[in-house]
Amino acid sequence: MAITTQQLIQWKQQGRSIVALTAWDYAIAQLLDAAGVDLILVGDSMAVVLGYQTTLPITLDETIYHAKAVRRGVKRAFLLVDLPFLSYQESIQQAIHSAGRVLKETGAQGVKLEGGYPEMVETVARLVKAGIPVMGHVGLTPQSVHQLGLRQQGKTQEASERILSEAIALEQAGAFGMLLEHIPADLAMQITQKLTIPTIGIGAGPHCDGQVLVTSDILGLAEKSPPFAKVYTNLRETITKAVQDYALEVRERKFP
Ligand code: KIV
Repeated sequence: MAITTQQLIQWKQQGRSIVALTAWDYAIAQLLDAAGVDLILVGDSMAVVLGYQTTLPITLDETIYHAKAVRRGVKRAFLLVDLPFLSYQESIQQAIHSAGRVLKETGAQGVKLEGGYPEMVETVARLVKAGIPVMGHVGLTPQSVHQLGLRQQGKTQEASERILSEAIALEQAGAFGMLLEHIPADLAMQITQKLTIPTIGIGAGPHCDGQVLVTSDILGLAEKSPPFAKVYTNLRETITKAVQDYALEVRERKFP
């Protein structure tokens, strides 16, 4: 049975930690799902896998294309899709149109969007009213890279109060979950205790209701990973070695 928003909220109440990872194609999605990952995010971080420096160039059509492939590989996990930069910020109508396309065309169960006060709180309320499950995303929001950089957010009293109140406002607007990116662990703990919806952390310490990482980081496929990511295996090395072995055997006429 596919995991639902209600299940994720229930796991928070039960103290069961939620395991989340990103996917961008069928093969990776199938492996993550079979390995028991609870939530699979078609994140706009797939920009990096596609060779971009930031998440900004990804379009809604590209997102939908990848999300459809991921959907075909996912049977059990909750499937969440990022709304890409400028596919939801222009107006509430634009957000409903984009999120609606994602749900209708990909079979995803929810969308994630970045930001809080005041516009995104209203946008989330309207999406939820239209029947679209939304996860909020506060702290470091990579779509604002040219304003915020990729630095940890919420370090001053004022900034941490703002992030906390944004998370509360997004929950009140109807968000079913909250992604907390690159904020101090004690702030993430405070938000996690205050909210009744699950928090999923990335670079936000151990006290969130779940953790997410970018799959190319944990697999060692990324050229460069953020300091908070853990690299569990080095596929760059493994793939390079396999390709070199193959090339050598072809050149030396040992294969086939
Ligand atoms: O796009 C993405 O991969 C994200 C991460 C913060 C998980 O949103």
